[in-house]
Formats: sequence, C-alpha cells, structure tokens
Amino acid sequence: MADAAIPYYAPTGDEVALFEHAYRHRLPLLLKGPTGCGKTRFVAHMAARLGRPLFTVACHDDLTAADLTGRYLLQGGDTVWTDGPLTRAVREGGICYLDEVVEARKDVTVVLHPLTDDRRILPLERTGELLQAPPSFMLVISYNPGYQNVLKGLKPSTRQRFLALDFHFPPPEAEATVVAEESGLPRDRCVPLVRLANALRDLKGQDLEEGVSTRLLVYCATLIAAGMKPERAIRAAMIEPLTDEPDVRQALLRVVEITLG
Ligand SMILES: Nc1ncnc2c1ncn2[C@@H]1O[C@H](COP(=O)(O)OP(=O)(O)OP(=O)(O)O)[C@@H](O)[C@H]1O
Ligand SMILES: [Mg+2]
Repeated sequence: MADAAIPYYAPTGDEVALFEHAYRHRLPLLLKGPTGCGKTRFVAHMAARLGRPLFTVACHDDLTAADLTGRYLLQGGDTVWTDGPLTRAVREGGICYLDEVVEARKDVTVVLHPLTDDRRILPLERTGELLQAPPSFMLVISYNPGYQNVLKGLKPSTRQRFLALDFHFPPPEAEATVVAEESGLPRDRCVPLVRLANALRDLKGQDLEEGVSTRLLVYCATLIAAGMKPERAIRAAMIEPLTDEPDVRQALLRVVEITLG
C-alpha cells in the first residue's frame, strides 16, 4: 500500500530501479523530458523512498555557483558563512536536484564536475574546505530538451558524467490512472480527457511548441471534479495555456470537437 509520507508516483518503465541503482552505485543522474511529465514528482518520490533529504534548486540564467555552494552573509555586524543547497546536500548526505540545469551560468559546471566524477568532492574556496561527499549523497539534474537553445545545451564533458533517463508522458491507460489519482475525478471520466490530450499532442511541432502536459490534464480533471463544466475546464486548462494565437486556438478547439464529439 502507498505510504502516506511518500509522494505518489506511478512508474511508466524501469525508472525506479534505475534510480536505485544510480543511488547505490553513487552515480549522478540526468532526467530529460517535456514539461509536466513527472520528473520533479519522480525525484520527490525517490528521495522519500530512499529516506534521504531532498534539496531542490530551480535553476535560472542568473544562478551562479555561489547560489549552490554558499556565501558569507551579514548577520548583525558579522559575516557568517551560509551553506547553499548543494553544500547542505553534500554535508547531510542528501539528494540535490537541479531543475532546468541548462539555464544556470557556466561557472556552475565547474562546481559540478569534481562532484560528479569518482572524486566526489566539493571544494569551497571561500571557506577553504574540501568536502568529500558521503555515499548517500546523490546529484540529479533535469532539463527539457524541447525548447532549449541548442547553444545552451550541456557540454559533453558535463553530460557524460551522468546516467540519463528519458521521460515521456505515460501511456494512455497509465496516464488516466495518474490523472484520476491526482484529481479525484473518477477514472472513466479521465479516459476521454487523456484521449483528447493525446490528440492535441499530435499537433506538437506544427502549431505548438509543447503538447498538453500531464500537469495540465490534472488541472483540467481537478476543475471538472469540483463541478466546472468540462468544456470550460478544457478551455482553461488544455487550450488557453498552450497558445496565444487565435488560429491555433481555433485549430485546438476543432480537435476538442472531433475528439469528444
Ligand atoms: N507518473 C506520474 N505519477 C504521478 N503523478 C504524475 C506522474 N506524471 C505526472 N504526474 C502529475 O503531473 C504533475 C506535474 O509533474 P512534475 O511537476 O513532476 O513535472 P516535471 O516533469 O517536473 O515538469 P517541469 O519540467 O515543468 O518541471 C505532478 O504534480 C503530478 O500531479
Ligand atoms: Mg519539474
């Protein structure tokens, strides 16, 4: 039975076993896949399952190495060293998850390299410390290969330090279960929503940058479970978030009509 303390995650392949192997063998892991397909939930699930604290960092283009490692901060007249999330994860033997890592500044990779080869060390220049990561420390990074600027992709010397897992939206049967589980909408009412999502996903590339995510499906089902009319919920959760173009919106609405009748 599901443990209440472990976030719900429905596996779609052998990702749980692969994560456990990576953890046991002290290998860092890269997750790639479209937005809203379960990467963050998977990491939260695995951290809880393995009983390790999780330190999540949402990377952005201003994120520097010091944001990860730590800095001296002014505290009542004194300057006090304050660990960043990566340093805390190393000290506590936890799992550090860097979300959308390709967004981060170049100097971040300098910190990650010695941590992700067999040295597993984190040098803190500012404090003069050289931290050796304990066996239970694990680094997980993720990115969405879809809309990333190619030039911003990870260097081979960085990506070849990680085992990699490719994430996809779950197959329809599994996705319907996830949506029902997350939203509380009966599963038989989730099935047509999933069918619609897959029809909309087929338009990806032509008119759309990204297909409807599992996350948006969960939003849609949540609104319907709360009593909103399905047409309204679909528009708010599965059409409007995808596009600002009137033509594309019309095309998506046609797909709704055709798919749901
Ligand atoms: N396999 C799954 N099991 C359980 N829930 C899932 C699964 N896949 C997706 N979900 C649901 O979809 C939502 C979005 O997933 P999540 O936040 O993990 O996406 P993500 O891949 O991290 O997206 P992003 O790249 O935008 O950060 C979750 O909150 C959860 O409700
Ligand atoms: Mg995420």
